[in-house]
Amino acid sequence: MASNKKVLVLPGDGIGPEVVGEVRRVVDWMDKRRHVTFDLSEGLVGGAAIDKHGIPLTDETMADAMHVDAVLFGSVGGPQWEKLDFGVQPERGLLRLRKEMQLYANLRPAMVFDALADASSLKKELVAGLDIMILRELTGGIYFGEPRGIETMPSGERRGFNTQSYTESEIERIARVGFELARKRSNRVMSVEKANVMESGVLWREVTQRIHDDEFPDVQLDHMYADNCAMQLVRQPKQFDVIVTDNLFGDILSDCAAMLTGSLGMLPSASLGAEDPTTGARKALYEPVHGSAPDIAGQGKANPIAEVLSFAMLLRYSFDMGEDANMVENAVANVLAAGFRTGDIAGPNDKVVSTTQMGDALLLELDKQSA
Ligand code: IPM
Ligand code: MG
Repeated sequence: MASNKKVLVLPGDGIGPEVVGEVRRVVDWMDKRRHVTFDLSEGLVGGAAIDKHGIPLTDETMADAMHVDAVLFGSVGGPQWEKLDFGVQPERGLLRLRKEMQLYANLRPAMVFDALADASSLKKELVAGLDIMILRELTGGIYFGEPRGIETMPSGERRGFNTQSYTESEIERIARVGFELARKRSNRVMSVEKANVMESGVLWREVTQRIHDDEFPDVQLDHMYADNCAMQLVRQPKQFDVIVTDNLFGDILSDCAAMLTGSLGMLPSASLGAEDPTTGARKALYEPVHGSAPDIAGQGKANPIAEVLSFAMLLRYSFDMGEDANMVENAVANVLAAGFRTGDIAGPNDKVVSTTQMGDALLLELDKQSA
C-alpha cells in the first residue's frame, strides 16, 4: 500500500547508522504489527557525504529533505574530518538542513525515567520524576549571525569573530512556541538570556514579556540569566517546566539537562519549522541530542534509546500518532525497568547489553503492548 508518510533517513557518521538501524526495526515492526507504512528513503550527511561527494550535504539531499514530511537524523562528525576547511566540515551539513528548512524551534525534553534516577550524576531525589522541556531557538543567533570569520588585522595578528543577533520576529515566534508548549504542560516558562551583558538579550527579554502580556497572560513567565540557569539546573532542576532560550545557550543548557537524565544517550529532540497556513504541516527534523561518539562507533555499544525516542517525537509531531508514540515511549520505560542497560546507563553491577540487544528488548516490549 502506498504511504503518504514520507520520511528521509540521514544516519550520518559514528554511532548514527547503528542507532538509526534500531529505529528501522521499529519502523518494520509498525508496518507488520500496526499496519502503518512509512515511505522511507535514505541519504548521506556529514562525513559520510564528504567521503562520497566532498561536501557534507549535496543539493539533491537538501532538496529531498525539503520534500518529505519528516527527516530522521542520526549524528555527524568524527576525528577523520576535523582537519577539513571549516566550511565543509560534517556539522555544516546539519546546520544547512536546520537553516534551509527553517527549523527554528528545537524541542529538547529532559525526562528522568524512574529506573534511571540512580544513573544521574546528581542525587536521586533531585532528579526523580524530572520532566523539563528546553526549547532552543535553532536558526538564529551566533550560529548564523553575520559578519563572521577569521581576519588578519593590520598588525598581522588574527582575529576571530561572530555576531549574536536576534530580530523581534525571530524572538516572537520562538516565544509563542514556548508558551504554547507550556499550556500543554505545567504552564510555566522560564526565558533565559544574558540581558545584563548583551543587547540581544535585552530585546529577547522585552519581546518575550510583550508576547506573554498580549497573548499568553495565563502562562507564568519568569526571566533568568543563562549562567544562573546553568547553576539552577544542577542545583534544583525540578523548578523548571519550559525553558526558552537562544541557539547557543540552548546548545549548552540542553547538554547539561541531558546529563541530569543519566546519559546523553537518552535524549531525543524535534526541530520544527512554521506551520503551513493552508495545510497545517510543518517541516521537521528529529535527532538525538548526543553526537556521533566516534570512540564507541561500530562496536555495538551505542544506546539507541535517544534515536528511538526521537522517532516517537516524529510520530507525535509530524503524524499526530500520539498513541503509537506513547507505545514506543512506554516500551522504553519498560525495558529500562526490566534492567536492560547499554554501557552509558549501566551501574557497576548491571549487565551491559549491546545496541541490537537493546533493540531486541524494545521490540519484544512492543509486542507485549500490542498483544
Ligand atoms: C547539537 C550539536 C550541534 C550544535 C553540532 C553538532 C553542530 O551540538 O545539536 O546540540 O551545536 O547545534
Ligand atoms: Mg549540542
